[in-house]
Amino acid sequence: MTTSVSRGGLAVAGVSKRYGSMTILDEVDFHVAEGEFVAVVGPSGSGKTTLLNTVAGFVDPDEGEILVNGAAVTGPGPSRCVVFQEYAIFPWLTVRRNIEFGMRLKARRRPAAQRDEVVDRYLELMGLTAFADALPKTLSGGMRQRVALARAYAVDPEILLMDEPFAALDAQTRETMQETLLEINQKEKRTVLFVTHQVEEAIFLAERVVVMSARPARVREVVPVPWQGRRTHELKTTVEFIELRREIETMLRGSA
Ligand SMILES: Nc1ncnc2c1ncn2[C@@H]1O[C@H](COP(=O)(O)OP(=O)(O)OP(=O)(O)O)[C@@H](O)[C@H]1O
Ligand SMILES: [Mg+2]
Repeated sequence: MTTSVSRGGLAVAGVSKRYGSMTILDEVDFHVAEGEFVAVVGPSGSGKTTLLNTVAGFVDPDEGEILVNGAAVTGPGPSRCVVFQEYAIFPWLTVRRNIEFGMRLKARRRPAAQRDEVVDRYLELMGLTAFADALPKTLSGGMRQRVALARAYAVDPEILLMDEPFAALDAQTRETMQETLLEINQKEKRTVLFVTHQVEEAIFLAERVVVMSARPARVREVVPVPWQGRRTHELKTTVEFIELRREIETMLRGSA
């Protein structure tokens, strides 16, 4: 543990959480290297959101600690930015203002001219340029999540936390969004912790997958994802992909 703590990125060290007499997280330990994309999969209700919330600083662990680039997490802060399942964007702000919003809040604020430049870049990267002045209610669900992603990347936190960000989308939009996320993360390499209950999504997106057990959540295994190079949705139909998916799904079922 002491070795992971001294490195950059995210270290989750011996984290336990109880609600009343119920243990939700049981000595959870893992590490996300700087610039690495790690997914956490676990059965429904196993404690994935609780885990992500402890990293975000919304929930205090009973035991253990969380370090982001060596600094202990003691509450919410600008080093971490969360993309939630539900569209957490402001309905009264335009797309542009929504993306800009996080940058205004950040402790180390940027000058206005620089903010405009950053917003323009993310509008472009997310294919939202034509919708810069639109209000969220005029956008589809997928586009709203693009705004949420753009906002999170624009803040440029030390780590990006994503809690099933595509779960509310239809299957086809979800696939497109997964490819968009891979694309943006390839261009703007960030440290990402991505929570999902879908094994397919986890192994499509991540470099390593942390497989959790059913409640109380423990780390069952950390699985490296072998695909090299650019990932497109065709990957999901390859034998290697299907085999790894089955293997992890079996691990998850074994823990139920
Ligand atoms: N604030 C709280 N008070 C009491 N119990 C809680 C609280 N937050 C979560 N729990 C319980 O902790 C357990 C894990 O919940 P959590 O939302 O972390 O699971 P999850 O893996 O994210 O589930 P899902 O797959 O449905 O998103 C559940 O049994 C839930 O009822
Ligand atoms: Mg959850």
